[in-house]
Amino acid sequence: MSELPLAVIAVPAPPAVEELLSSVCRPCYVAASDVAANLATAEGLLCPAPFPITVALLDAAPRLRVVSNFGVGFNNVDLLEMERRGIAVCNTPGVLTDAVADLTVGMVLMASRGLVANNRFATGGAWSAGESPPPLGWDLAGKTLGLVGFGRIGRAVAGRARHFGVRIVYHDILTSPGPGFEDCAYLSLEDLLRESDVVSLHVNLTEETHHRIGAAELALMKPTAWLLNTSRGPVVDQPALVAALRAGTLAGAVLDVLETEPPAADDPLLAMPNVLLLPHIGSATVETRAAMLDLAARNLAAVLGGHPPPECVNPDVLPRALQRR
Ligand code: 8YV
Repeated sequence: MSELPLAVIAVPAPPAVEELLSSVCRPCYVAASDVAANLATAEGLLCPAPFPITVALLDAAPRLRVVSNFGVGFNNVDLLEMERRGIAVCNTPGVLTDAVADLTVGMVLMASRGLVANNRFATGGAWSAGESPPPLGWDLAGKTLGLVGFGRIGRAVAGRARHFGVRIVYHDILTSPGPGFEDCAYLSLEDLLRESDVVSLHVNLTEETHHRIGAAELALMKPTAWLLNTSRGPVVDQPALVAALRAGTLAGAVLDVLETEPPAADDPLLAMPNVLLLPHIGSATVETRAAMLDLAARNLAAVLGGHPPPECVNPDVLPRALQRR
């Protein structure tokens, strides 16, 4: 009987996941920084979704058959390169939709109720000094929420936000909102940016969406509007965002993702009074991370065991990826 395939696992795994993995492969648990050094004979890799799968890394992994992302995003891989090499790419859609949508609703409220400014008011001495009343927020009812990207997560945000009485508009490649979302209106990106009081980004990062929100797009937004991002940092041209916030042509931003993560200590966004930064926590709840890890492990185990995985981004590759080399 041939030896079980080797798989590099670059995320911490609880006992149940270890047990699943050990039944189909020889797992090698490593820190993300040690992945490349351990890939020479590996057939599988389980890694955080933002972990970059470079050509150099693939060259160091001649027997690799599957990259299982711990996350829904897959901008860390070049799908053409994976196709060329016959490597399956798996991800964890669905199980994190609610967590990201919940966080987004929190971010909408941070914007509308001025939570950044009010926290600063309460903790920075202004409240104790008692000189002025705290800053006022604004009601969501009657305002417009613009969702850029109307897939699973965008729609889950819409489903929650409609309870606040906001008008919901969206922009997506598909112009039809889908069943149950007939109250949401499709707009061109330009009209969405012009009309929205809060714009929230929910697109995959691709060549088309890289810097999709740049200086020209930011200039269309209302000076009272807020930009929220839980998708990927590079969807926004960050220097253009800093310039718009400094010029006051945009009221503020709540960002869970940045072009560079973690940010440099001197990143101007860290010190801006109208910006609230979060450390990429869209999916970061105990339950959601457990469900993601379970799905990522089942994806990896399926491919290594010669079976189609529950979730695969490039299923055309499977006939080759399911064969041992
Ligand atoms: C990360 C994410 O995967 O799902 C995604 O695409 O970006 C996040 O959920 C998470 O930080 C774990 O790597």
